[in-house]
Amino acid sequence: MQKFYSLVVKEISKKTSKAYSLLFDIPSELRESFAFKAGQYITIKCNIDGEEIRRCYSISSISNEAETFQVVVKSVPNGIFSKYVEENVKAGDILEVSEPEGNFCYEPTNEKSKTIVAVAAGSGITPIFSIIQSILSFSNDQIILFYGNKSEEQTIFNKEIIKLEGDFNDRFKVIKFYTQEKIEGSHFGRINQKIILETLQNHDFSTIEKFYVCGPEDLIKNTTNTFLSQNIKKENILFELFFSPQTCEQNKAVVSENSGETIVKLILDGEEETISVDKNTLLLDSILDAGFDIPYSCQNAICSTCLCVLTKGEVNMVKNEVLSDAEIDEGKIVVCQSYPVSDKIEINYDII
Ligand SMILES: Cc1cc2nc3c(=O)[nH]c(=O)nc-3n(C[C@H](O)[C@H](O)[C@H](O)COP(=O)(O)OP(=O)(O)OC[C@H]3O[C@@H](n4cnc5c(N)ncnc54)[C@H](O)[C@@H]3O)c2cc1C
Ligand code: FES
Repeated sequence: MQKFYSLVVKEISKKTSKAYSLLFDIPSELRESFAFKAGQYITIKCNIDGEEIRRCYSISSISNEAETFQVVVKSVPNGIFSKYVEENVKAGDILEVSEPEGNFCYEPTNEKSKTIVAVAAGSGITPIFSIIQSILSFSNDQIILFYGNKSEEQTIFNKEIIKLEGDFNDRFKVIKFYTQEKIEGSHFGRINQKIILETLQNHDFSTIEKFYVCGPEDLIKNTTNTFLSQNIKKENILFELFFSPQTCEQNKAVVSENSGETIVKLILDGEEETISVDKNTLLLDSILDAGFDIPYSCQNAICSTCLCVLTKGEVNMVKNEVLSDAEIDEGKIVVCQSYPVSDKIEINYDII
């Protein structure tokens, strides 16, 4: 079950002119709940102008800093929560924050040194910065980072990354790309697949353990294809998508002309409930309207917070940016973008 806790914002500061760092205090009684793996995210629940909104933010600090953790919120045009952070949030405020979750993560091991490759654009650095710090602090692994931004000024964690490059120059290599300024030693333009390949060709691909990609959809798609073309196994390429422009209304257009009701058996926290829902309403909306407090965050099939297993019946998952083919074969669905199809379905939150 997704649990939210009231956490105090210990500090708010600017990382760039458009990105704010929020440092949360974790009281000792909540340290276990907020233990996280590098790369995971939390959900912030907030009431703005009478409407409850939920947004995911990747943790960018590392897990041994047990008393606090940091997220960075980058402004997006007309963004409800990012504007709220910019204009309203101050040190001492209390925000409702969920326990960390997500599979885009790195866990250090004591095995022999491996190479990790990361590709990040803009705010996509946030989970990867946690992964970089974790690699450098808790393992002997090496990391190669391809990092794209508009300019140095707009580069989140620029100073911190330069310092880590200096401190760990035998294990940490950064290849930078800028679209709005030419800087010696960096590439001009967007992250370039040819440069990624040329850089990695000097490296034996078989020594590379994992690939992490975080940024816009086209960067994730192109980079994944580049790695797959080098016979990298799909399961070793992890990606995190923050935003997908395709809206729910666009997806709804592809829903079959189903009408009528579906009986949903809901298994959650050891309890079984049965409700009747409209076939033309997204399952998440119907279940929330029926008064059940099921987990969710992005409502756009990109975060996996609303994941459950379909154990009986059929649904139409109109969008999926997060589940792998293997997970779908196991019956996993994201209810935020699924419509019921059969007259009866059973979904289980307890066997994920
Ligand atoms: C797993 C996960 C982790 C995330 N981690 C971070 C993080 O560490 N830092 C961070 O800043 N964000 C992160 N996000 C994105 C974050 O959850 C919000 O979507 C983002 O902050 C925008 O919220 P908002 O309320 O300001 O904008 P909204 O009110 O949701 O959107 C306003 C308008 O901007 C568009 N929009 C929303 N996001 C973007 C975008 N990224 N680019 C272009 N247009 C956009 C919307 O379609 C809408 O038109 C993450 C998302 C996910 C799923
Ligand atoms: S709420 Fe994010 S995938 Fe469903």
